[in-house]
Amino acid sequence: MASVIEKTIRKTVTSGILGVAKVSAALKSREGDHPYLTGIHKPMAEELTLTELEVEGSIPAELDGRYLRIGPNPVAEVNPATHHWFIGDGMAHGLKIGGGKALWYRNRWIRSEAVSKALGEPPAPSPHGRERGTANTNIVGIGGRTWAIIEAGNSPVELSEELETLSINPFDGSLQNSYTAHPHLDPATGESHAICYRGDVQDTVWHTVLDSAGKVIREEPITVAHGPSIHDCQITENYVIVLDLPVTFSMKTLMGGHPFPYRWNPEHRARVGLMPRTGTNADMHWFDVEPCYVFHPANAFETEDGSVIIDVVAHDKMFDDGHDGPDGSRSAFERWTLPAGGTKVQRTVVDGEMQEFPRYDERRTCKPYRYAYCMAAENPHDIPGLIADTRLFKHDLDAGTREVHDFGPHRHPGEFVFVPRGDGEDEGWLVGLVIDMTDDTTELAILDAANFTAPPVGTVRLPHRIPPGFHGNWVAG
Ligand SMILES: [Fe+2]
Repeated sequence: MASVIEKTIRKTVTSGILGVAKVSAALKSREGDHPYLTGIHKPMAEELTLTELEVEGSIPAELDGRYLRIGPNPVAEVNPATHHWFIGDGMAHGLKIGGGKALWYRNRWIRSEAVSKALGEPPAPSPHGRERGTANTNIVGIGGRTWAIIEAGNSPVELSEELETLSINPFDGSLQNSYTAHPHLDPATGESHAICYRGDVQDTVWHTVLDSAGKVIREEPITVAHGPSIHDCQITENYVIVLDLPVTFSMKTLMGGHPFPYRWNPEHRARVGLMPRTGTNADMHWFDVEPCYVFHPANAFETEDGSVIIDVVAHDKMFDDGHDGPDGSRSAFERWTLPAGGTKVQRTVVDGEMQEFPRYDERRTCKPYRYAYCMAAENPHDIPGLIADTRLFKHDLDAGTREVHDFGPHRHPGEFVFVPRGDGEDEGWLVGLVIDMTDDTTELAILDAANFTAPPVGTVRLPHRIPPGFHGNWVAG
């Protein structure tokens, strides 16, 4: 009963706060364009199904599956005075590849309640009665099904093979709390691990585990303060790693009419936690770290002396200035060591140039690894957001060297995902989207990871610009 009362109070308070926030938002106005609604970020206005796709070079015959990518793409007009890049309606993009051919491209809005209404459709099924907000941050294959996912509260959304919304679906009702945009599959167990938080709960986050079929088998609470925005996590053979960093829920921001209520908080203790995978909050071991923010780690693993290593892209700050999207803080690729028996994270800069979206051969999750691939994120052209550079990086962590693949002037890559071909760590392809601002088009580029600086082995040309989004994955057929 206590939890019912607590829920009722929370619901009442939250609806009151949201009412004030709505009034504050309605009073806001803005002069000039919103950087995440114009230029390279101008949303797509229609859903396309394209089957006659132009290919340059060749598509490797072994590639059989779908490249899926998702990002924000508001369906209706939004108030530019209060819009934040991270809260836009979700749009999924997909290319089906097989037999050396590009079989189709599709883009579809994720049918949140608002999107269905804007499109004049009945609401998508929601058999478990969960939130009807959008999912815009990651798109993954789990248990042979396709899921659009997001952090902080909205439910996962199940999509068909062809990206139609099937249902708003918290993993067939097995998810009690919220989910994340960043589950990590342990190749040894088939389980997907995540750290999840809720926008309306400030003192708890959860270690959430799915089995290989996509059913939630663990939601273990972890005590935190201030409602930290924990975007991603990593795992090692024995631990889950919790990145509890100083971007936290801000009631003042929400009441001020900004619907993305997370801000840099110097009062919040920056720390990284290790919890045994089957442990509890009582088993947490916390390491202090200098204040910074991490959206995304690369891999993590344990060393022979019991220390834990996690590689991350660390930003000096985040959400300290402005309310439109990520601010212009510096980022670097770093190796963090959590020393056995220690209490402080040891930080080493691997590469001080700005970058984001680190990926690696995910068959090596939890194991020592050699190569990480990052999207460069220097911003010489004053393009807003993270997708402004023309380069990808391949880091050789053993040799301490870096290769650069430059797509050329005005051609902007997003996140590239590694697709294995053989057993070798860089024996495979890197697949991702490149926006060409010279003619407002996009291509799917396929690079040979072992021959990183060579031109793509194949590209699929799309006759339109796909706005920069967040994450993409290869889902094998
Ligand atoms: Fe992310």
